[in-house]
Amino acid sequence: MLVHIKTLVSKAQRQGYALGAFNTANLEITQGIVRAAVARRSPVIVQVSEATIKYAGLKPITHIVETIAKNEAVDIPVALHLDHGRDFHTIAECLHAGFSSIHIDASELPLDENIAVTRQSVDYAHRFGAWAQGELGSILGKEGLVKVDIPDDPDRYMTDPSVVRRYVAATRVDTLAVSVGTMHGFYRGKEHVDRRRLAAISRLVRKPLVLHGGSGLSRSSIRTAVRYGIRIINIDTELRMAFTETLRRNLRRKLTSYDPRKILGPSTDAIQRVVESKLAMFGSVGRA
Ligand code: G3H
Ligand code: ZN
Repeated sequence: MLVHIKTLVSKAQRQGYALGAFNTANLEITQGIVRAAVARRSPVIVQVSEATIKYAGLKPITHIVETIAKNEAVDIPVALHLDHGRDFHTIAECLHAGFSSIHIDASELPLDENIAVTRQSVDYAHRFGAWAQGELGSILGKEGLVKVDIPDDPDRYMTDPSVVRRYVAATRVDTLAVSVGTMHGFYRGKEHVDRRRLAAISRLVRKPLVLHGGSGLSRSSIRTAVRYGIRIINIDTELRMAFTETLRRNLRRKLTSYDPRKILGPSTDAIQRVVESKLAMFGSVGRA
């Protein structure tokens, strides 16, 4: 069933686990995500990026997520979220389309501009009764249309605890994306969670914190993140890798098949396997 993100996040906040926010781009990925949530009786966030909206169209992708949530996850809560919204027009369209949550990513702007741009979208989201996620500090790497090159001094891009209170009070965000050592893309062994920084942020604000760049992150870093206040973990790259690698393998095996259903089906199953393992690591299994 499709629910407001606040019911999922409030429970995760009370019980101390993280929700997975998984990016979808089509029917098969959506089915893989939702089937994993159903199999593990876990709440789940399904999110779309601006790049996906360009690719699939807002209405088609919204209807796919809504329909799969209603029909395949009858008693499992699924929330729909816009990931890395940069364009106010797109954010407004998503709110009109019924999203219960949007991410306004103005993180590359200087602090005061980030606050002003974020506040505009937060106010608009609240008019719809929706939640808004802000981002303070930038997540390095590439995600859809968002690209931040990895510099020699990555720490400079991390969230500065000394401005967190001011940012949250001035923007009125409902959830806060922080940069604490993870990156967009798959960089196993190179990503980490800066425990001290995250702990400092958690002490300063009571808002549910969001960890972007969850692909490639070790089990122990995930545990640290959850222990110090992360309540949503975003995963995209590992889903794309599972989908595409399975597709390539399957195409090679079925050289004479022209049936897209037979060629794509195993990719849906691969998505489900990845999502199930993440839900277990995040602690949301059995919390539906
Ligand atoms: O916004 C989406 C996520 O932050 C994706 O992160 O590339 O590590 O999967 P990822
Ligand atoms: Zn992200």
